Amino acid sequence: MHWINAIAMVIMIGSGWEIYNDEIIFGWLTFPKWAVIGPWAAPALQWHFFGMWVLGLNGLAYLAYGIATGRLRRKLLPISPREFIADVKGALSFQLAHDDITVYNAVQKVLYVGVIAIVIVQVLSGLAIWKPIQFPTLYKLFIDFQSARLVHFIGMALICGFVLVHVSLALLVPKTLVAMVTGGPRTPESKP
Ligand code: HEM
Repeated sequence: MHWINAIAMVIMIGSGWEIYNDEIIFGWLTFPKWAVIGPWAAPALQWHFFGMWVLGLNGLAYLAYGIATGRLRRKLLPISPREFIADVKGALSFQLAHDDITVYNAVQKVLYVGVIAIVIVQVLSGLAIWKPIQFPTLYKLFIDFQSARLVHFIGMALICGFVLVHVSLALLVPKTLVAMVTGGPRTPESKP
């Protein structure tokens, strides 16, 4: 589910950048041709809607599995502010322990819960700008089209920021990358 999500995100961000280029929000910002997916806005929108199904169905499967098995709660909660501050200090001085990669530290928990919440807002704002007539209440939640568009754009920027931090931290602890490909070490609950 992680790698399906990674591919879907590349499609959503790349095609989103081409859609943005067609009607820019900030005068100083257009995305370079080599970084976008789709030759112009219409095919880029088709890529975006294709990616939407992959991202949406994969995300629903992830949440359903995580909630039904209790994995989400077990892995991501509770988050204690004191532990978070201690782990931020530890991370900045490269002193966080990574002996047991099956247990997330508080910085990881905050980043993962945060990015899941942003992706949910991204799906909701995307649906609001795509189908404002079919989802009027959702649309009104974002006030109007332009503000929904802006929320959608800021969501994308936050996800890009997350990806940068996430990939850098994973590269610093390469055994996490291996675990993400092989399935990782056995945890007490995954033992038969
Ligand atoms: C999965 C549900 C999603 C739906 C239904 C959706 C829908 C849309 C639609 C309809 C547009 C065109 C807006 C316009 O006409 O101006 C758009 C633009 C865009 N989308 Fe999405 N989107 C979704 C998810 C995402 C995700 C996950 C990302 C990136 C992380 C993303 C990034 C963008 C960007 C950067 C734009 C261009 C912003 C603009 O200039 O309006 N979208 N999206």
